[in-house]
Order: sequence, then structure tokens, then C-alpha cells
Amino acid sequence: MRKWIVAGNWKMHNTVAESIALAEAIKNGAAKFQGGKIVLAPPFTALFHVSEVIKGTNLLLGAQNVHNEEKGAFTGEISPVMLKDIGCTYVIIGHSERRKYFHEQDNNVNLKVKKALTTGLIPIMCVGETDEERLKGITNDVVGRQVKQGLKEVEKIDSVVIAYEPVWAIGTGKVATAAQAQEVHAFIRGILKNILGSNAADDVCILYGGSVTKNNIGDLISMADIDGALVGGASLKADEFIGIIKEIAGKK
Ligand code: 13P
Repeated sequence: MRKWIVAGNWKMHNTVAESIALAEAIKNGAAKFQGGKIVLAPPFTALFHVSEVIKGTNLLLGAQNVHNEEKGAFTGEISPVMLKDIGCTYVIIGHSERRKYFHEQDNNVNLKVKKALTTGLIPIMCVGETDEERLKGITNDVVGRQVKQGLKEVEKIDSVVIAYEPVWAIGTGKVATAAQAQEVHAFIRGILKNILGSNAADDVCILYGGSVTKNNIGDLISMADIDGALVGGASLKADEFIGIIKEIAGKK
């Protein structure tokens, strides 16, 4: 059966010194929470330093993006082999900020997911609709397309983590209600059941992301198909992030 995951996406925040201090504070507060996975995804520049801080603890390292080739003339890019080498277990792929500002599309996401898996990284594949798409009533069309295209011809789908992050909830303070999120999570699990069968689909972790705080995570995590959280802003404060872990570890 699947275990909970709490992942902190630090986005483009924190110098090396700030990253070390934050990782230390989280390490101290999170040590007692077993039974799930806690992932820190600092910027690339701090991955090595954070990996040193969390070595031998219950915290795992994640990156925020990856290229889909192992090596080559791709100036400015980072390969999955490099991420593995530096100690990453997870990699966030297809975040809506990557889709919006860096024009990533489902086919890029799909290539990255495949390469991450064959390199031995666990992809956290992000999907989610915009405000406009929700208002038009096409949330399921958009999320369904992102899930199916992102996982096209992927062999070990049950190793992938999916993060449902409604774009309108990211960084806005407008968290989805537990019922809204559960509806989409159940829809995603339904797609996985069609592809994988019921048992394997039940093993896939589906995280919610978008304005998660320690005060609002309780209702969300009580939902049957919400298996954890991908946290942005609140993961930059050790107290808040530990509060979120505590809620999730207590309820799952
Ligand atoms: P916030 O928690 O800041 O809304 O960000 C969510 C997110 O984008 C995590 O990947």
C-alpha cells in the first residue's frame, strides 16, 4: 500500500547558506516522523550542500527539473545522471511554472519522465488546470490529457508520483477545497486504473499542491485519494513545513 509523501519545492529561493540552515532546521524537526517520505527540493546550486546535511536521515533529496538526455551539448541543462550522482532520489517534472514560463509541453514532460525512471530517479509529475480552464468546466479534459500524455509509453508507471497542482491555487493563498481536490485525485486514479489495473493504481501516490499550509492540510489529507503534499511557500519556513508533515503523518 502507498505511503504518504511531503515534498518541499523551494523554487528559486535560498542561497547555499540559507539552504543549509533551512535543511538543518527541518532535519531536526522531522526526525520523528517515520512511515512516509519527506523530500526537500532546493535549487540546483544547493543540492550538494543539502545532500550533505540530510545524509543518513529520513529526509530525501529532490531536484526541481531535469533534461531528458544523459549528456551532450545542451548549454545550461542538468541531466538525470548528474542528479543521481549528487544524491537525488526524486525529481519534479512538468511543474506549471515550467509549462508557463519555459514552454514545456506534455511531450517534453513525457520524455523527462521516461529518462528519469530509466536513470533510477522517481519523477514527481505535475498536472493541473488554470482558473480559466476550471471556469470553462474542462478541468478533467486538461488534467486527463496531461496525465495520459505525460505517462505515454512509460514502463514503470507505478513508480511515478503524480502531483495535482491547480494553477489557480499556486502561490495565491486560494487552496482547493478538500472535495475539489479529492474529485480530481479520484479522476486521476481512475485513469491509472484503466492503464494499470486496480491494484497497481492503488499503489501510486497522488500529491496535492497549491497554497498548502499547516492549517489547511488537515482536511485535504483526510481524503481517500490524497496521499501527501507538494508544498511551495510554506516549505521555506521550517515550522510550517514540519507542521504540515505532522498533520500528514498523524492522519495517514
Ligand atoms: P505554493 O505552496 O507556494 O502555492 O506552491 C505550490 C507549488 O507550486 C509546489 O510545487
